[in-house]
Amino acid sequence: MKPKVFITKKVSKEVKEYIGNYCDFQVWDSEDPIPREILLKEVEEIDGLLNHSNKINNELLDRAKHLKVVSNMSVGYNNFDIEAMKQRNIIGTNTPGVLNETVADTVMALILASARRVTELDRYVKEGKWNKLIGEDLFGTDVHDTTLGIIGMGRIGTAIARRAKFGFNMDIIYNNQTRNLQGEEELGAKFCPLDELLQQADFVLMMTPLTEKTRDMIGAREFSLMKDTAVFINASRGETVDESALYHALKNGTIRAAALDVYVKEPVDPQNPLLQLNNIVTLPHIGSAVKKTRDAMAMMAAENLIKALQGEEPPNIIEEHKTK
Ligand code: DGY
Repeated sequence: MKPKVFITKKVSKEVKEYIGNYCDFQVWDSEDPIPREILLKEVEEIDGLLNHSNKINNELLDRAKHLKVVSNMSVGYNNFDIEAMKQRNIIGTNTPGVLNETVADTVMALILASARRVTELDRYVKEGKWNKLIGEDLFGTDVHDTTLGIIGMGRIGTAIARRAKFGFNMDIIYNNQTRNLQGEEELGAKFCPLDELLQQADFVLMMTPLTEKTRDMIGAREFSLMKDTAVFINASRGETVDESALYHALKNGTIRAAALDVYVKEPVDPQNPLLQLNNIVTLPHIGSAVKKTRDAMAMMAAENLIKALQGEEPPNIIEEHKTK
C-alpha cells in the first residue's frame, strides 16, 4: 500500500505528479488557508504532511497517529513544536537555500522603498496632491554609503549584504548566534554586539529565525538605542518584534520609518494601528513569493517528504531532528 499524504496548499502539477509516483495524496486546492478543523480531520490517516505555516502542535499530533514526517514548504519552521514531534518520532524538514536570492531582492525593495518613501509618494501623486514643487518635507534619505545592520546574518542575510555592499557601497555590521566568517571575508562585514549595532546602523534589518530566544527581541529599549533617522525592516517573523513598541517608536519619531513584510498575526488585522502610519511601507509576507521560487520550494519539500517516507534521512531535516 502506498503511503498517504496531505498537501495543505496549492502546488504545481509537477509536484503533484512527483508525489503521486510514490503516495496517495489529497490536496487543499484553494487560495484560502485550510480551516484548522478540516486539517485536524485530514491528518488522522496520513503518513506525511506537505505543509505551509500550519501549527504542528500536540493538538494536531494527537490526531495524527500514523504521521512520520511534516515537510514545510518554507525555510522557517517556527510552526513546529519540535519537542512534541521528537517525542513521537516525527521528523520535520524545511527548504533552505532555494529562496535566498528572491528574499534578498524583496528586502532591497523594502529598504529602497522606505528610504525614498516610494509608496507614500506614489499615493501622493495618484491622489492628485502633486500641484507644487516638492519641498523638504517629502525628501527621503540615501541608501548608498550608509550602514546596514543585519540581525541574523545567515544565508539570506548574506545574500542581502552582498547586494548592499556591491550595489550600494554600504558598510555591513551584523549580530548573529555564530560568526559569519564568509560574510566577514567576502563583504568586510563586522560582527557587533546587538546594542552597538542598534546605535550604529542607518538601516536595522531583522532576519533572524523566530525561536524562544528571538521572540520579542526588539522592543522599546532597542528602538530607543537606534538613531532617530534609522529605518527598521522586518522580513523574519512578526513575533521577533514588539509591535506596540514599534508603533510608538514610529509615531513619536524615535526612529524615522519601518518596512514590514511580516506581522504577529497574519493576515494582518486591518485595524492594526501600524497600518495607519505614513512612515511604514508594508507587504503581505511575500519575501519568497515568485512563482519559480515557490515552485522550487514546494518541489524541495516534496523530495524531503518522499525521502522520509522511504525511511531515509531527508536532505533538509531540521537541525533539532538530526540523528547524526
Ligand atoms: C519562509 O520560507 O520561511 C518565508 O518566510 C516564506 O516566505
